[in-house]
Amino acid sequence: MKERLQKILAQAGVASRRNAEKLIAAGRVAVDGKAITELGAKVEAADVRITVDGKPLPAQEAHVYFLLNKPKGYITTAHDDRGRRTVLDLLPEVKERIYPVGRLDNNTEGLLLLTNDGVLTNGLLHPKQEVDKTYVARVQPVPTEQALVRLTEGVKLEDGMTAPALVRLLSSDGDEARVEITIHEGRNRQVRRMFAAVGCDVKALKRKSFAGLTLAGVPRGTHRPLTQAELAHLRELAGFSNPQPPSRDAKISSGDFAGTAKRWKE
Ligand code: URA
Repeated sequence: MKERLQKILAQAGVASRRNAEKLIAAGRVAVDGKAITELGAKVEAADVRITVDGKPLPAQEAHVYFLLNKPKGYITTAHDDRGRRTVLDLLPEVKERIYPVGRLDNNTEGLLLLTNDGVLTNGLLHPKQEVDKTYVARVQPVPTEQALVRLTEGVKLEDGMTAPALVRLLSSDGDEARVEITIHEGRNRQVRRMFAAVGCDVKALKRKSFAGLTLAGVPRGTHRPLTQAELAHLRELAGFSNPQPPSRDAKISSGDFAGTAKRWKE
């Protein structure tokens, strides 16, 4: 069956579908030796030779899954043309072509998943799945009660109203406060823009959980493989109604997953 080139690239673990589109648009993908820059192009993967930067697609490699505690100062992309440090520099021993599940800003720290499983990535990032992400923001000035209510109910951004959020004032000291906020959308710089919309400047931002997974036991700058239980949990959240056991050769560790994802509709 013919499929869109970006879908084939994502399924082969080369990049997320969105980043695969960027590779195509940048002229880095070729089919039978001819560069394809058209995003709608469909091909029969079995019948053609697809290359990225001249290299053939990786043979279907075992899926790997990591949880990283990203420090500030690393960009969330697999490649950077300007030579900046990327999150992949923090996992030098991983040989598979992994990429980040979603994005954190350069100056945001915290939990970031990385994998070469394009199907799971697309499921987790699909807006319909409403996967929770919890952040702690250090903001100035201290938000008013009314500002916190507005954040909870949704604020107007240039790309539309935000969905309801869970918001909790953790502490305040002088003109600064720490606020915990849980959202399930994944718009660009969303948390910073939401606080700006209620008159607060985000001085520091950390993602403390994603889909119920937390940073417990993972110091800043380090990573660990996901456990089988965590993977099963993610598969379920990504909308795979009959979670399959991980494939025999999936490189994941065993262990119990104690986390729970708080679902919005419960
Ligand atoms: N919201 C932001 O503003 N930045 C991030 O890195 C993540 C969410």
